[in-house]
Amino acid sequence: LEAMKITIAEDKSLPTAKTIKLAKISKNIDERVKVQGWIHRLRVQKGVAFIVLRDGSGYVQCVLSGPLANAYQTQQLTVESTVAIYGTIVKLPEGKSAPGGVELVADYYEVIGLAPGGKDSFTNQVAEDADPSLLLDRRHLTLRGETLSAVMKVRAALLASIRRVYQEEGLCEVTPPCMVQTQVEGGSTLFKMDYYGEEAYLTQSSQLYLETLLPALGDVYCIQESFRAEKSHTRRHLSEYTHIEAELSFLTFEDLLTHIETVITKTIQYVLEDPVAGPLVKQLNPGFVPPQMPFKRMEYAHAIEWLNENGIPNEEGQPFKFGDDIAEAAERKMTDTIGVPILLNRFPVAIKSFYMKKCVDDPLVTESVDVLMPTVGEITGGSMRIDDIDELLAAFKREGLDPAPYYWFVDQRVYGTCPHGGYGLGTERILAWLCNRFTVRDCSLYPRFTGRCKP
Ligand code: 4AD
Repeated sequence: LEAMKITIAEDKSLPTAKTIKLAKISKNIDERVKVQGWIHRLRVQKGVAFIVLRDGSGYVQCVLSGPLANAYQTQQLTVESTVAIYGTIVKLPEGKSAPGGVELVADYYEVIGLAPGGKDSFTNQVAEDADPSLLLDRRHLTLRGETLSAVMKVRAALLASIRRVYQEEGLCEVTPPCMVQTQVEGGSTLFKMDYYGEEAYLTQSSQLYLETLLPALGDVYCIQESFRAEKSHTRRHLSEYTHIEAELSFLTFEDLLTHIETVITKTIQYVLEDPVAGPLVKQLNPGFVPPQMPFKRMEYAHAIEWLNENGIPNEEGQPFKFGDDIAEAAERKMTDTIGVPILLNRFPVAIKSFYMKKCVDDPLVTESVDVLMPTVGEITGGSMRIDDIDELLAAFKREGLDPAPYYWFVDQRVYGTCPHGGYGLGTERILAWLCNRFTVRDCSLYPRFTGRCKP
């Protein structure tokens, strides 16, 4: 009853409040400001209330005291309600800690949108012990949490950093189409669609398009969604993922390997130097060790020996033999044991894509590479490409592919062929490694995998 009588009003004699975003909070010490956002955490006591406010750009702890804390509207506040808070930013005394090292001493606030309390409260919606599939249904709400939002900020910094590296390395950004009529990585994972009565697919990789751009634009890259109808549920496969792909001309396989390790090392360095993302990586992955150049190089044939020497069996539970695919579990065991980034290279022709160039000194293997990182395994796949037209046509035949729809890709070998190569990086896989996430699902805004296409 006492509280119901207390209403609050702004004291108009105070200096006009400057509206700021929370990212800038510590730059406005001793000034009167207006901040707006969502109530992230809330503690209301008699005579004092603490609100941790979040606006997406940052957090600030706000202190309400006296009538402001005791007012009826304060008693009604709930987590995730939106408010505008006016007050003065003060530096925290030694020994007290809060985001940004500051606190906002409120003199007035307004409620913008009250979120529900009780059984519909936000906290009940996103309870950590809830069923994972229920939490995925509520992804639009769980994204507001500290962990997922931190991963998404690191993701933004990763994309900005890699663009910066590509610019430094002289690559031109392009945006190839997502609706295509050719496959790159095998028919079994194609998403088919009806395209005005014709069969088309969602792209698995922009590689073939990037190859056609070398004579027009020089070295190129793209950051584009790729789609794979992966039937199995694994912690590192999505049906839609953000594919970072690059293609370079007039280079050797060794040049390609050096380029790949340079791009990864510099990108990670820039992310760690970023004032927002750097501290978030430390928070999410305190033990993260930035990669050092040169990466360990390991030939496929040596990996087979290593796996057998270390008693790691193939998928049939047998010792590995040359030509076996090194599947996810074995690959991860090997990478985790070795404990450093590995450029696994020279895979057999039979287990790799049709377009890969054979090694000059051994036609059974290809100039191909996978980059393996501890805890996730493969984050990058690449190769030198077949640049001889007859060899390419033979490869189409071997794979049972009709070369007709690939005429534009074949033309690349007709009108001035050149040695070239490239690779694709899985954004969510790099993030899983960088942010220490168990699954790539944590690294995609609204993850798509078998059985899930919502929200
Ligand atoms: O090894 P992949 O299939 O290679 C290609 O698509 C090449 N055409 C790329 C190129 O040379 N331009 O895929 C490349 C990377 C993988 O190393 C992995 O990081 C990621 O893409 N990737 C996936 N990420 C999440 N979910 C999936 N289903 C993925 N499939 C591949």
